[in-house]
Amino acid sequence: MAIGDVLYEAKNISKKYGSVVALDGASFKLHAGEVIGLVGDNGAGKSTLVKILSGAYTPDSGSLFLDGEQRVWTSPREVLDAGVETLYQDSGLAPHLSVSQNVFLGREKVVKGFFGKLGFVAKKQMEHEAHRDLEEVGIAVPASDRSVSQLSGGQRQAVAIGRAVAWARKVIILDEPTNHLGARQASEVLQIVKNAKKKGLGVIFISHTLPHVLEVTDRIIVLRLGKIVKIAPTSEFTGDTLVGTITGTIQTLKLEGD
Ligand SMILES: Nc1ncnc2c1ncn2[C@@H]1O[C@H](COP(=O)(O)OP(=O)(O)O)[C@@H](O)[C@H]1O
Ligand SMILES: [Mg+2]
Repeated sequence: MAIGDVLYEAKNISKKYGSVVALDGASFKLHAGEVIGLVGDNGAGKSTLVKILSGAYTPDSGSLFLDGEQRVWTSPREVLDAGVETLYQDSGLAPHLSVSQNVFLGREKVVKGFFGKLGFVAKKQMEHEAHRDLEEVGIAVPASDRSVSQLSGGQRQAVAIGRAVAWARKVIILDEPTNHLGARQASEVLQIVKNAKKKGLGVIFISHTLPHVLEVTDRIIVLRLGKIVKIAPTSEFTGDTLVGTITGTIQTLKLEGD
């Protein structure tokens, strides 16, 4: 995959819950080395789109293409295995487990040995790899054998993001990753996003903190009442025009397809 290649594409995705139209014909392309901001008021359809992209929900209609190949996801696991990582708003770290166990949660090294000897090796190897993976994405965590319950909120969030970035081979979707973080921790998260971009990953960044969106994204998708009302380069927005586009006080004039 080269920078600029289309990594993940959504074509005409729609989803209803009963009579509520949560998404209405959403189409966009995410390129390698690109960060796309996904913004919109509460109820705009952001989470629904994230859940469809991550395989948690099935769209009613429309298609998804990863690396140009049409995919019909049947489970979130399948999407993870294809190289697409999602950090949901609620990060899902297990507080009683160590940092390394969290990094490997659900993909523990399957090594069986006599008397657990090889199991011990696998644990050490996991700790080593977890530490290396987190360092690689720019996260300093004191010791990967520490329990997550001993970490601060910001450190936990860093581990959750680090886990996603470390495993992502193609795409990473971050739902409100800077929520509840202090200014310094938030800027660390933004740096992680920039590093992921440099690695050639495609990133979808969802946030209500518009200065963060303006700082870290290349393009912005604005959703309103289930419809994409604007896709444009971030440089075309100011804070004010972005707010106006989200709320609908600024009429949307053009839709740029890719
Ligand atoms: N599981 C669900 N069941 C019924 N309605 C839902 C469900 N999830 C979301 N909705 C509705 O779909 C619309 C889009 O919601 P959502 O995707 O969560 O938006 P956002 O993440 O932008 O706040 C809203 O009207 C919301 O109430
Ligand atoms: Mg939401």
